Amino acid sequence: MNVLMVCLGNICRSPLAEGILKSKVNLDYVKVDSAGTAGYHIGNPPDPRSIKVAKEHGIDISAQCCRKFTVADFDAFDLIYVMDKSNYNAILGLVRTKHDTEKVKLLLNETNLELKEVPDPYYDSKDGFEKVYQLIDQACTIIAARLEK
Ligand code: 4NP
Repeated sequence: MNVLMVCLGNICRSPLAEGILKSKVNLDYVKVDSAGTAGYHIGNPPDPRSIKVAKEHGIDISAQCCRKFTVADFDAFDLIYVMDKSNYNAILGLVRTKHDTEKVKLLLNETNLELKEVPDPYYDSKDGFEKVYQLIDQACTIIAARLEK
């Protein structure tokens, strides 16, 4: 089972989602990766604020390397979790088949939170990153429990 986390830049939210889900699932048959719909930061490590908030929770995401989502990801991944509706629509704009479409989900739809989008923290304060961490953590707890079954 291969799981891809997707946001816009692949430097703030999806690297956290990758690191958090990896920290909760330790199974050979589960692979977790992340990508962005935009290519502004390709090859860069995650944003220092994401690295810091992850570290505060005991997770090291500093070795991750930013990449852009490609159509080949529809073949490589079984589940594609997107952080917000804008990026969800961007990914749906790339689907080739109904099978591709069925793989794409809004991350927070896994929770019973009323909030359906992980807010973009890029222009936000440090508090924004902790809030984003908590939202992603809730969804990943639910996803991990399902993957472990
Ligand atoms: P992310 O946040 O999508 O959570 O990685 C952003 C990162 C970079 C930019 C926007 C959002 N940017 O405009 O460069």
